[in-house]
Amino acid sequence: MLEISHLNVWYGVTEVLRDVSFQVPSNGIVALLGGNGSGKTTILNALSGLVPPRAGSVKFEGREMAGWAPDRMVKAGIVQVPQGREVFSQMTVEENLELGAATRPGGRQIQADIDEIYSLFPRLKEKRTKRAGSLSGGEQQQVAIGRALMARPRLLLMDEPSVGLAPIIVEAMIETLVGLHARGLTMLIVEQNVGVAAAVAEDAHVLKDGAIAYSGRAKELINNPEVLASYLGR
Ligand SMILES: Nc1ncnc2c1ncn2[C@@H]1O[C@H](COP(=O)(O)OP(=O)(O)OP(=O)(O)O)[C@@H](O)[C@H]1O
Ligand SMILES: [Mg+2]
Repeated sequence: MLEISHLNVWYGVTEVLRDVSFQVPSNGIVALLGGNGSGKTTILNALSGLVPPRAGSVKFEGREMAGWAPDRMVKAGIVQVPQGREVFSQMTVEENLELGAATRPGGRQIQADIDEIYSLFPRLKEKRTKRAGSLSGGEQQQVAIGRALMARPRLLLMDEPSVGLAPIIVEAMIETLVGLHARGLTMLIVEQNVGVAAAVAEDAHVLKDGAIAYSGRAKELINNPEVLASYLGR
């Protein structure tokens, strides 16, 4: 479904992604791991059109998309949940969800999709008229995911969904991701939490200094002390 080959990204005079190649199969979940500044977010930003690649190919459902603008990427089905949740804190929960549908037409269908988000996240229904900024971290992450789902993604990009959440909320987040996968969504998830990656993902790629240093099955990472120590600071 998604095929990235020899992707290179520079910020000014600095090369931040070097020759990155990997694939996300249709209905798969792939995890990207790596330390701070290793290039994880930059990969997602290149896929969502926020940074232009200098070289390399981004093929999604057979089409070459490297360098496309963000709105075109969203219309094609690639939607990003940003790092740090970034909800519109002064707007209500429901207004945040409505914004997620801004790239597509159709009034009645939008309400039906909002209702579906509420069945996925019942807490958001209870708090639909509350300012998003007044919600807990876990609830704000639900708003951020719900807003992305409103764009009807075929590939969802998630940037550290578990960061800063209490362990019990992380467990709920894992269940949410597994549930979305069961409904057929394809996902690329950036995580620093190896446990979360092992619990939800099939393949995993570990980045170091902008290049892929290790690729393997996500569930096997946790038993690979060498990789944990060399690249993930464990
Ligand atoms: N807008 C920017 N301008 C210049 N350099 C940047 C910019 N954004 C990121 N960088 C640099 O690019 C490199 C990769 O950053 P990136 O945000 O992709 O890392 P990351 O793996 O997501 O890190 P973290 O775990 O801290 O989120 C880092 O060296 C970072 O300092
Ligand atoms: Mg990042």
